[in-house]
Amino acid sequence: MAESIAFSRGADRATLYSEIIPQIEALIAPEADRTANLANVAAALKETFGFFWVGFYLLRGDQLVLGPFQGPVACTRIETDKGVCGYAYTTRETVIVPNVDEFPGHIACSSAARSEIVVPLVGPNGEAVGVLDVDSDRLDDFSNVDAEGLGTIARLIERII
Ligand code: SME
Repeated sequence: MAESIAFSRGADRATLYSEIIPQIEALIAPEADRTANLANVAAALKETFGFFWVGFYLLRGDQLVLGPFQGPVACTRIETDKGVCGYAYTTRETVIVPNVDEFPGHIACSSAARSEIVVPLVGPNGEAVGVLDVDSDRLDDFSNVDAEGLGTIARLIERII
């Protein structure tokens, strides 16, 4: 298995998602270790899109705890009813926040983050088990293309966690 991701640098995001999704699938399918797989998914997304921060928060007890990520140091623990992550976790719906300053209760791990998208990870019985959180240092950086692409990646991840 090639331990690298190939993509068309400079292509639009829809193209990039279509290029990397099969590669992410091939990367994680043969590996049973959850940490290794989540770490590689975060790295693949960071490398392909250059997002400011990409990472996972996973349910541990009654809190969301920081998992594998790429980007600056981040908050370690988030209450399940706090922030954008808590909102996506609780509602089990993907949340796009065009301007984090306008989201009530947004948790500012970094003042450089301007917009974000959070995709819930759902377990086999329909229960939320964590979130995929992607932050941008640009306002209004996420659209339904990201919701769809990251949603597809979240479904791949759900098979291995
Ligand atoms: N933005 C998140 C907090 C996590 S950091 O952005 C990495 C939130 O408000 O839930």
